[in-house]
Amino acid sequence: MPSGFAAAKVFVRNRFAAEHRTPPHDWAHAQRVMAWARRIAVAENADDEIVRWAALLHDIARESKDEFTSDHARDGVTIARKILRRFAPHTNENAILHAIAAHSRRSNILPETLEARVIWDADKLDGLGAMGAERYIIQGSELGWDIYRSARYYIKTINNHMAGRGFYTATAKKIAAGRVSEGLAVCKAILRDEI
Ligand SMILES: [Fe+2]
Ligand SMILES: [Fe+2]
Repeated sequence: MPSGFAAAKVFVRNRFAAEHRTPPHDWAHAQRVMAWARRIAVAENADDEIVRWAALLHDIARESKDEFTSDHARDGVTIARKILRRFAPHTNENAILHAIAAHSRRSNILPETLEARVIWDADKLDGLGAMGAERYIIQGSELGWDIYRSARYYIKTINNHMAGRGFYTATAKKIAAGRVSEGLAVCKAILRDEI
């Protein structure tokens, strides 16, 4: 059986395809989080192996309908552990699983390591900008919301996020600055045309 990160990537991509993941949490989201995480990790001197595995597996248990009902970060740890043992038995399992457990706003586990903070920041960056606004609007429609309700939810969530924990690393804080206003502007423009 193939092992290693490349094989695990194929496994996760196929799993997401079989689950018919939609843009809020599909393979492309995982890829963008991997790319943000790598960029932040390089700048912050975080452990590349921990960060790339955690980014790949962070939403392994995510479903759009779970928005208010379950803790996919905690649920994802169990699945991620099995995948890690199958594809990369020699990796730093505990550090990877901690980063996954602590990446969600609904999780009451705070990121205690630099690598977990990198994953939090990378995932939250994909919630900003026009990309983030579009992901929220699609997810809202999956929850049965109209576009105005989704836009309001986005504005509230991002404002709460920035007034609360925001971002941990200096690198992500710098990247986030312009993207916060971009995502909010998209949703404000939608509400400007509300009927
Ligand atoms: Fe997540
Ligand atoms: Fe995510």
